[in-house]
Amino acid sequence: MSRASQRIVPQHVAIIMDGNGRWANARGLPRTFGHRKGVETVRETVKAAREAGVGFLTLFAFSSENWRRPEAEVNELFGLLKAFIRRDLADLHQASVRIRIIGDKVNLREDIRSLLLEAEERTAENRGMTLVIAFNYGSRDEIARAAARLAREVQAGRLDPCDIDAQKINDSLDTAGIPDPDLVIRTSGEERLSNFLLWQSAYAELMFVPDFWPDFTAAVFDMVLERYAARDRRFGGLSNKVVAVGS
Ligand code: IPE
Ligand code: IPE
Ligand code: MG
Repeated sequence: MSRASQRIVPQHVAIIMDGNGRWANARGLPRTFGHRKGVETVRETVKAAREAGVGFLTLFAFSSENWRRPEAEVNELFGLLKAFIRRDLADLHQASVRIRIIGDKVNLREDIRSLLLEAEERTAENRGMTLVIAFNYGSRDEIARAAARLAREVQAGRLDPCDIDAQKINDSLDTAGIPDPDLVIRTSGEERLSNFLLWQSAYAELMFVPDFWPDFTAAVFDMVLERYAARDRRFGGLSNKVVAVGS
């Protein structure tokens, strides 16, 4: 057995794919070129995650704050998502990948919404890796929508406020049924979460890598998984790795 196949693999990896614009600027190209190259990295990363035995891979593709960008760039990002689903859905389905979308779908363009729903429905029975695409996603927006959902349940008399606990909130989030991320990776050297999976990442290991997203290769991913395997996760308890002396 190789070393790689023995190491602890995170069940859920979530990635903030950042740095497309800077990757393009560094080459004197328009930002859109970086986004296009970034789609190739998405394909390679999905493949690498499946091969590593990751169960859930979440990719942050468009945030609820990315609407602040110029309209042309927003349109480009929407167009790339559409092209990705159209071109790759059959292959992903063939590979038994299940697709889940998190984020606010209600306020999305109809063409995008129906395409995303189609991808989810067509792959719903797949039992391979789950690919979660965070699109028009922001944690605060997600939590606010979950709170509104629970409030409506209370108002309808179906829920007692005393029964609202962390599990109920989990079940009301877009990520219902998806385990918390074990590992959150952000590319491009920025060290912030930018409103990504704030509730779900309560005990995630965070890894920041300097590479821009288009430069994030399978080898870099493997290095990050190696670093993850060496981390000591304690969840508020005591270490499993070190035997305490005299305690
Ligand atoms: C990440 O790259 C892609 C999205 C946010 C959609 P950026 O577009 O943020 O690239 P930088 O951070 O400006 O370099
Ligand atoms: C986070 O990247 C959003 C996505 C990767 C989709 P941003 O580039 O939007 O984040 P900030 O603005 O640098 O915090
Ligand atoms: Mg960015």
